[in-house]
Amino acid sequence: MSGFDKNWLALREPADRLARSRPLIGTLCRHLAEARQAPLLLDIGCGTGSTYRTLSPLLPAQTRWLLLDYDPQLLLEAERQITSSDGISFRQHDLNDLADLPLDGVSMVTASALFDLCSASFTDRFVERLSYQKTGLYAALNYDGVMEWGTSHPLDTQVVDSFNRHQGLDKGFGPALGPNATHHLGQSLRSKGYRVEIGHSPWRLGPNQHALQAELLRGIQAAVAEIGAIAPAELEDWVAYRLDVLADEQSLCVIGHADLLAIHDR
Ligand SMILES: C[S@@+](CC[C@H](N)C(=O)[O-])C[C@H]1O[C@@H](n2cnc3c(N)ncnc32)[C@H](O)[C@@H]1O
Repeated sequence: MSGFDKNWLALREPADRLARSRPLIGTLCRHLAEARQAPLLLDIGCGTGSTYRTLSPLLPAQTRWLLLDYDPQLLLEAERQITSSDGISFRQHDLNDLADLPLDGVSMVTASALFDLCSASFTDRFVERLSYQKTGLYAALNYDGVMEWGTSHPLDTQVVDSFNRHQGLDKGFGPALGPNATHHLGQSLRSKGYRVEIGHSPWRLGPNQHALQAELLRGIQAAVAEIGAIAPAELEDWVAYRLDVLADEQSLCVIGHADLLAIHDR
């Protein structure tokens, strides 16, 4: 699991779609349907276009999209997968360059699995930039620090602690907010006059999501190993146990996420 690898993004997309908070998507759709002009959505950190694929069938037909990422390979893959070219454009851009973020005419910024990678300082500067034009924000699927399994193992708590410490390392924006992302984003947006709604969007993975769970375990192992608080052999045993019980009926794995919708009365 590289985090930004197209195969990993493809594996997680169906679980993300199921997990997204329905009430928040409902509010988002109603808000955009009431807009006087055809909505323009800017999806930041778009990857291969998962957010576009999930939301576009639910939004007004005339909705236009700008999909933005700094990774040219992911943008190419997004262009390859999104065959309809009507009202969709793609932009390579590093979000750290907030001054040139193409916000003109944007009705709503969307982002999925992005803000937990971002720092508090970046998030505040981003909100400042957004609030200047009172643009709305839908920020979905930010990890909230919860990882639980249906069958327990003595090392679970230590693994989760190490993983959550890893979440706070620099992912390209300064020290990452990790599990604190939605809370911080919400506070920052409220301070700028936004109405903020938050919904839970946990993955609940069962034996049918074997490939996703196995890849997730490899990603957890790599992150925990980097922290170095658990002996490699112990960590290997934990992963072997978790892989072993994947096919069991009770092999439920819960990964907590939260979605946020922020709207500013213009
Ligand atoms: C975890 S992936 C999520 C991708 C997509 N939103 C999804 O839900 O499948 C994070 C995305 O953020 C992008 N990203 C990370 N840092 C970025 C930056 N500084 N500027 C632009 N995009 C960035 C990555 O290339 C990647 O596509």
